[in-house]
Amino acid sequence: MPDLRERKGEHLDLAKMPSAMAQVENSLDRVRLTHQALPEIDADDVDTSTKFLNYRLAMPLMISGMTGGMPRGDAINLALAEIASQHGIAICIGSQRASLMAKQSQSELRARAKGVPLIGNLGGVQLAGEGGLALAQRAIDDIGADAIAIHLNPLQELAQPEGDRDWRGVLATLGELVKKSEVPIMVKEVGAGISAKTARQLMDQGVRIIDVAGLGGTNWTRIEQSRSDPLRQDVMAPFLDWGISTVDALISARAEHKDATIIASGGIRHGLDVARCVWLGSDLVSAAGVFIKVLEDENQTLRPNRLDALLSVWKDQLKIAMFLTASKTLKALKTAEGEVLMQK
Ligand SMILES: Cc1cc2nc3c(=O)[nH]c(=O)nc-3n(C[C@H](O)[C@H](O)[C@H](O)COP(=O)(O)O)c2cc1C
Repeated sequence: MPDLRERKGEHLDLAKMPSAMAQVENSLDRVRLTHQALPEIDADDVDTSTKFLNYRLAMPLMISGMTGGMPRGDAINLALAEIASQHGIAICIGSQRASLMAKQSQSELRARAKGVPLIGNLGGVQLAGEGGLALAQRAIDDIGADAIAIHLNPLQELAQPEGDRDWRGVLATLGELVKKSEVPIMVKEVGAGISAKTARQLMDQGVRIIDVAGLGGTNWTRIEQSRSDPLRQDVMAPFLDWGISTVDALISARAEHKDATIIASGGIRHGLDVARCVWLGSDLVSAAGVFIKVLEDENQTLRPNRLDALLSVWKDQLKIAMFLTASKTLKALKTAEGEVLMQK
């Protein structure tokens, strides 16, 4: 069985391969924002900024949690934090369990994520385990986090040869964390989506930030298949594309919870997808796989310039979508004309 740090390296390699992607769509191509030939605004006046966790972001985007706890992961996080700061977007890091267990601090991240929200990360099962609440507090303190993301990944854990199977008590412990924590609690999936029922359960426990992380992007069942034995692969075969699409999860979470901060993710590909998610009701959009593929090349060399360029392209694309829907602000974009097609 590989240890936690080896597994993180394997996950990074596998997540960059085409086989890591869901074979079903996140449904964002069904979202059609209506073209307005009379925008009546200056394209240069389009304002993509928004507020999140008491910070003003340049665009409604977050780099989602990926890694940490081993030298390669730490270098990636530092580079991501610096780029997030340069672009005025939020950053969430990957699970802090490995680094906390090894008593290795990731505190350097706070200075790199200058002027932007820095969000910690821990698994729901780990939170519900012995000492989980104390671990969450250490995770927050270590990086001076503005919030902590708790990830729910029951499908991934069952697909994982060494995964956790006992999911009792996660919801109640989340409720305790909400009460005890001085920073907001965000809850996220990792690519199978948050249902309306799960969102309601979370809201009932006081969680106010939910990242739906839907089906249609990085797919952990597929990633874990390549690490499993043939019998486990057979067992998991019908569940390869199990989950709730990004669009369905986003629509139901927003409909259920008018006041919550809803983050859309799961296979976001470009700035037009960001615009589509905002139109569907998300406050923020996040992405992971697409960013690591650009940041780290095939020799594991970091190419921050490539991610820097990609983020500029996304911002331009978001602006174009806003201009062509006659939306000067994100608030205006939310009420722009558009439709969700039944089929592409
Ligand atoms: C290499 C890699 C590692 C990840 N590790 C974590 C993690 O430690 N904690 C977590 O909450 N999510 C983790 N995720 C899930 C992402 O945060 C995100 O929810 C998911 O990949 C869906 O977004 P995407 O389709 O844009 O990749 C990881 C994703 C990738 C690609």
